[in-house]
Amino acid sequence: MCGIVGYTGTNQAAPILLDGLGKLEYRGYDSAGIAIRNGEELAEVVKSTGKLRSLIEKTDSGRTLAGTCGIGHTRWATHGEPSQTNAHPHVSGNCSGSGSGQVESEVVGVHNGIIENYLELKEKLLRHGYQFYSDTDTEVVVKLIDYYYKKYKIGPVDAINRTLVRVRGTYALALMFRDYPGEIYAARKDAPMIIGITNGESYLASDVPALLNYTRNVYYIDNMQIARLLPGEVHFFDLNGDEVSLESTEITWDAKSAEKNGFEHFMIKEIYEQPDAVRDTLTSLIVDGRISLKDTGLDEDVLKSVSSFRIVACGSAWHVGMAAQYILEDMTGVPVRVELASEYRYRKILPQERELLIVISQSGETADSLAALRKAKDLGVRTLAVVNVVGSTIAREADHVLYTHAGPEIAVATTKAYSSQLIAMYCLAIQTAYDLGRIDDEKYAYYLSELNTIPEKIVRILEEKERIQWFAAKYSNARDIFYIGRGLDYAISLEGSLKAKEISYVHSEAYAAGELKHGTISLIEENVLVIGVLTQDDLFEKTVSNMVECKARGAYLMALTTYGNYNAEDSASFTVYVPKTDPHFMASLAVVPLQLLGYYIGVARGLDVDKPRNLAKSVTVE
Ligand code: M6R
Repeated sequence: MCGIVGYTGTNQAAPILLDGLGKLEYRGYDSAGIAIRNGEELAEVVKSTGKLRSLIEKTDSGRTLAGTCGIGHTRWATHGEPSQTNAHPHVSGNCSGSGSGQVESEVVGVHNGIIENYLELKEKLLRHGYQFYSDTDTEVVVKLIDYYYKKYKIGPVDAINRTLVRVRGTYALALMFRDYPGEIYAARKDAPMIIGITNGESYLASDVPALLNYTRNVYYIDNMQIARLLPGEVHFFDLNGDEVSLESTEITWDAKSAEKNGFEHFMIKEIYEQPDAVRDTLTSLIVDGRISLKDTGLDEDVLKSVSSFRIVACGSAWHVGMAAQYILEDMTGVPVRVELASEYRYRKILPQERELLIVISQSGETADSLAALRKAKDLGVRTLAVVNVVGSTIAREADHVLYTHAGPEIAVATTKAYSSQLIAMYCLAIQTAYDLGRIDDEKYAYYLSELNTIPEKIVRILEEKERIQWFAAKYSNARDIFYIGRGLDYAISLEGSLKAKEISYVHSEAYAAGELKHGTISLIEENVLVIGVLTQDDLFEKTVSNMVECKARGAYLMALTTYGNYNAEDSASFTVYVPKTDPHFMASLAVVPLQLLGYYIGVARGLDVDKPRNLAKSVTVE
């Protein structure tokens, strides 16, 4: 989704903003722009469509723009096609053209999110003589601020406040006012926005990686709060315009972790970071040989009292939930239901008494997951967030938070965050099972020792990547890929299939193997690739039978199984082996070859795997 950056200080702003926008490219965008103030002069707005590179070229890496204060934006189109006119920043002045250059304007702004009632507000502004050059909701909100600013002759904070109570939707806004040189104003509702302060410099960004090169000292601005940034200082205000104080937080991620460090893509780098991500998450949760959920506030009494778990999430995080369902139910005996957050939020929910609702999210900002969390809270349900980004909205609003330690994940296709989320869910399942008396000390110790072997086993799988790379190149033109499995293997198939389709644009489906005969097998024909996931020994033969049925209809078979199951080769033409661990934890190992397969098919097809078309890293709008 859109990215926002801002800077005010003593250095030239444009190069800093372009650098920050570069760090947010991974979020997905179709156009970009910056607005720079040089002292008292009007803001200079420069925008371009396509890649950030064209904005960088247009401004000679920012050198052509003098000024030490500015805002920047990468746009992921919602209202209006991707074009220079619709690109941000937007200006309050009436102008023809695309709103670029030095437009006579009181207010200049950028926005992430959606203003739902923008048409109604636009009509009001048209009646008051405003003209519009773009199709965006952002231009409407910038002009509405200008309207209140002039009508009531009030300051920026009050003008923004009056606007916030009129707009419906989600937003993060960064604004500059002509009468306030060197100042940036920011506000948010349900869209991320963080502020970093160092000596004499202030930074603003919609996501942490944009700030990592400059500061670790950040403020998480709250919903419906306004921030006023001056060089090296920031002030916060509530909806009444009263100043409020916020605590700053230290970010522990290091800047290098958000760089490619010699890898061709972030995705492959992050695949390789999985042993560390898993180890770091384990280390945060296992202290002196015991799982410690102390930091989450989930103590033994709470865990023992849970009558049912409900997991809500989107995309790969939902796939973690699907895997966790098998593990939690099997270990704890407590019923588990897994739901897509986008479905949960709009249907009638009959919560169980003492239900624990778990929201899984890497970003902690996914709009549907956040809405589901809030709905659960409104229903009086206890909530736990399993989140990677510290201080994100979901983390702050949930009753309990269990942080994963994947570090910054930049590639749109999640890999290391998925693996860390699995670890968090295993630990929750093991501890609940223990507290409920379902497993004894010996079993508990066995599970923990198995978990500790996972990082090293992932390293071993990665050492064999060439075979998968070769196979991916061979099948990069496959028209369809079907991933099939039963039980936990079905959950693994879901993630494998998503990795293929989102990165390589090859059509793929994941099916519960036993479900094929109920319709889908009609799609199996010559040259369709069928990947059987076979990590659960008790289901091995059943799934192999389904694979053989596909082979009989012309499919090419790949098997993914554990060392020792060599009879998979009797049926499959290509077999990938991974080390064994306890069956509950097999997703952590089996997913790695499937991530590599999706990645290498995308690479073989010449695609930009870090920025797949139409996708955004963090889906902050519905
Ligand atoms: O940030 P979240 O974990 O809430 O994101 C959820 C999904 O948008 C995300 O997992 C998405 O499906 C990824 N592109 C998968 O690789």
